[in-house]
Amino acid sequence: MRIALISGAFLALTGPLWAQEAADAVAPESATSIDAGAFEAISEPVADALRAKAEGRPFEARDWMIAAANPHAVSAGARVLRDGGTAADAMVAVQAVLGLVEPQSSGLGGGAFLVWHDGASGEITTLDGRETAPLAATPRLFQDEAGMPLDFFDAVVGGRSVGVPGTPALMQSAHDRWGTAEWSGLFNEAITLAEDGFAVSPRLASLVAEDAERLARFPDTAAYFLPEGAPIEAGQTLTNAAYAEVLRRIATEGADVFYTSDIATAIVDRVRGAEGNPGVLAPADFAIYEVKERPAVCVPYRGYEACGMGPPSSGALTVGQILGMLDRFEMPGVADAEAWRLIGDASRLAFADRGRYMADSDFVPVPVTGLVAEGYLAQRAELLQGDDALPEVSAGDPEFDHAMNWAEDESIEFPSTSHISIVDSFGNALSMTTTIENAFGSRLMVSGFLLNNELTDFSFRSHADGVPIANRVEPGKRPRSSMAPTILRRDGAPVLVVGSPGGSRIIGYVTKAIISYVDWGLDVQQAVSIGHAVNRFGAFDLEMGTPLETLAPDLEALGYEVNLRDLNSGLHAIAVTPDGLRGGADPRREGIALGE
Ligand code: DON
Repeated sequence: MRIALISGAFLALTGPLWAQEAADAVAPESATSIDAGAFEAISEPVADALRAKAEGRPFEARDWMIAAANPHAVSAGARVLRDGGTAADAMVAVQAVLGLVEPQSSGLGGGAFLVWHDGASGEITTLDGRETAPLAATPRLFQDEAGMPLDFFDAVVGGRSVGVPGTPALMQSAHDRWGTAEWSGLFNEAITLAEDGFAVSPRLASLVAEDAERLARFPDTAAYFLPEGAPIEAGQTLTNAAYAEVLRRIATEGADVFYTSDIATAIVDRVRGAEGNPGVLAPADFAIYEVKERPAVCVPYRGYEACGMGPPSSGALTVGQILGMLDRFEMPGVADAEAWRLIGDASRLAFADRGRYMADSDFVPVPVTGLVAEGYLAQRAELLQGDDALPEVSAGDPEFDHAMNWAEDESIEFPSTSHISIVDSFGNALSMTTTIENAFGSRLMVSGFLLNNELTDFSFRSHADGVPIANRVEPGKRPRSSMAPTILRRDGAPVLVVGSPGGSRIIGYVTKAIISYVDWGLDVQQAVSIGHAVNRFGAFDLEMGTPLETLAPDLEALGYEVNLRDLNSGLHAIAVTPDGLRGGADPRREGIALGE
């Protein structure tokens, strides 16, 4: 076993070198990347934040900070924090605006996971606002009559994929626990923007154009995104009166109204009536929905602890396993293929365990403790001792609380989603990843918001060779997620608040951001910006247009298949440093980090 030894001299050699490269080479410009001009007019602080991002430097602040995917949403949260609200209050305002201006990614019709570090008590709490499968769902929900898995988009588009949304209840639950600002006021900015209109962002416009055919299938959805048959355009003013109305009701009556009134029955009707692909949601599914507080999963790494969301998310367990294995090795520099061999094969080992063991622990016994136990991680890390790529990788045998084994799973995950990081002036830190799953979710729209397709995060197959798959569909169960909202702490205090969209690549993005910050000494903006190399199941995906491309021959020589591709993360991170707060926003998306 190689001994973990991080040498200052080593970092001094590799850190600044790569830092320069990182500053020079962020993600390639794509049709969906930020067009600063679209947002500069919002306010002077937003213009400053956009400038910091464009120059590749962290936004600096003293008292509070927000990093999230859209300048309107960050501004709404900033107003709450400026007025003395907490991170939980600000999150409600940010999420309400995101649901309007970035509707393809998250909103009232979706679900989310939230990690909270409490400034007063130092406690970490995690809240599960994941969607649930209807009580009428069966393990064959995503199979045809012969028991064969449906094609992905045949399952996604329509009512079948829609789970009971958890985001409204999560907003309420976080506010009930940690909010101090008046609930009803937190929706003002979103309501005003919905009524007066907002400028469609370049990213939203391009995603609508790409998805026009699917959006056109449902009249309400088409009327909003394709008025008169043509996709909405960047810069066009869009209003959403139905969304303003539903926010007003939630603002005055509380999030309960979402689950118990005609809002819920309208969703049920839309889902059950979806032409060609109806679902089985019922009012009772809404009546029993609850946000669940779960034990946080915290794994030590180089004197820090990475804390995040346990099952039904695989996020913290998989990130934790990777870091836990790597903790036993010296980490070479970012430009060294050996670093990526270690990260890549640790990821493959963790993904093998994820596929076999991780699912909703209310339904299947998940060896949560066993998967990140010191002895188990040491044993798995032994497998990384060689010099080349592991020829084969399979799940290990973590200690179960009681005996249980599962077949390998076959879930598929595709892009959308959003991450919110907030630190307030009371020392609280909030990390929340929020989603409607696919871009535009199920494509069904009710009351001005889109409904999720989260149920397609379940395994479409229920069994493999007669052995049940842990993440199979079951009534009332929550689909396994990869979302990894994380708070990295040292001596009980937050150091880095981070998370990302990206489907199952989230795990690689978040892990890389942590390693960049801790091992390579990059600042928080560089940790977010530098190129990605992700290995989940054997092949290495290297981000096109970044210096990592140059590692391809070395990785191939180690035995990996290498693919160059766009890797569309949306990392939003806040570093808490002795000199103040530092924020990083992903150059691949439209967000900013802003604080005072
Ligand atoms: O919960 C999950 O893991 C997925 N539904 C998240 C989807 C996602 O991140 C898409 N990202 N671009």
